[in-house]
Amino acid sequence: MEIIRQLDSLRSALAKIRETRSVVGLVPTMGALHAGHMHLVETAMAQCDSVVVSIFVNPTQFGEGEDLNAYPRQEAADAALLEGAGVDLIWAPTVDQVYPDGFATNVSVTGVSAGLCGGSRPGHFDGVATVVAKLFNQIRPDAAFFGEKDYQQLAVIQRMARDLDFTHDIVGVPTVRDADGLALSSRNAYLTPEQRGQAVALPDTMRDAAKSIAKGDDIASVLEEAKEKLIASGFHNVDYFEMRNAETLENMTVFVKPARLLAAAHIGSTRLIDNIAVT
Ligand code: PAJ
Repeated sequence: MEIIRQLDSLRSALAKIRETRSVVGLVPTMGALHAGHMHLVETAMAQCDSVVVSIFVNPTQFGEGEDLNAYPRQEAADAALLEGAGVDLIWAPTVDQVYPDGFATNVSVTGVSAGLCGGSRPGHFDGVATVVAKLFNQIRPDAAFFGEKDYQQLAVIQRMARDLDFTHDIVGVPTVRDADGLALSSRNAYLTPEQRGQAVALPDTMRDAAKSIAKGDDIASVLEEAKEKLIASGFHNVDYFEMRNAETLENMTVFVKPARLLAAAHIGSTRLIDNIAVT
C-alpha cells in the first residue's frame, strides 16, 4: 500500500492500478479512523477491484471557533488499519495539492444544504462539496462511499453529483454504532467518561421519538419532548431535532414515508449528530 501526497504521483499510481483493475472505489475521510470508517472501506472492498482512501482534514469545512486544529490526526495508526484491510492507496494530500495558490472556486449546493447542520454551521457544506468535487476529479473513481451517519452530507453530495454530471455511483452506507447505540464518531474521543455515559440519550431519544411518530403521535409535541429529554439527560444545547423527507430533506409537518429524524446536540464542548429512519 502506498501513501501519496502529491498529484503527479497520484496520477501515475492510479494509471498503474487501472491497467489491471477496472472498478476503483473511493472512500473520502478526514482520518482518525474508527470502525465506522472501516465499514465504508469493507463495503468498498466488496464492491470494487481496488480501493483508494483519502485522508485530508479539509480546512474549508471548519467554521471559525470549530475544532480544525484540535481535530485528531493519527496517520500511522490509520495507515496500519487500511493496510490490514487491503486498501491499495492512501491519498493524503498536502493542503496546496487541494487548494493551490489563488484557489478561487466554491461549490455551493442549495436546497438540501439549508437548515439542519447547514443552519448551525454556515459555509460547512460549501467546504464539503468543494473538497469532494476536487477528490472526485483527482481520483475519478467508479464508486464513492459515504456514511449515512452524516445524512445531510450524503444528500448534498448526491445532489452535487447529479448536478455536475459526476456519473459514478454514490453509495450510502448505514451508520455503525457502539454496543449501546451511540453512533461511532471521531468526536466521541472528546467525551469524558461521564459525558460518554450521557451521550447514549441521543440515539435512545431518537429511537423513541421515531416510534411515537410512526404510531401517530403529534409530531411537534414529540420533537419538543425529545429536545427536553436530551437536556434533562446532560446535553446542554440542542441545535436541532427535526423530521425531514428522507430523500429531499424538505421539512415535514405530517408523517409520510420516507421520513427521517435528524438531530445535533452539544454535550460539554462536543457536538454530536445522529439520524434515524421513521418507519
Ligand atoms: P469523516 O468525518 O472522516 O467521515 C468520513 C466518512 O465516514 C463519511 O462518509 C462519514 O459519514 C463516514 N462515517 C463516519 N462515522 C460513521 C459511522 N459511525 N458509521 C458509518 N459511516 C461513518 O465526513 C467527512 O469525513 C468529511 O466531511 C469528508 C466527506 C471526508 C469531506 O472532507
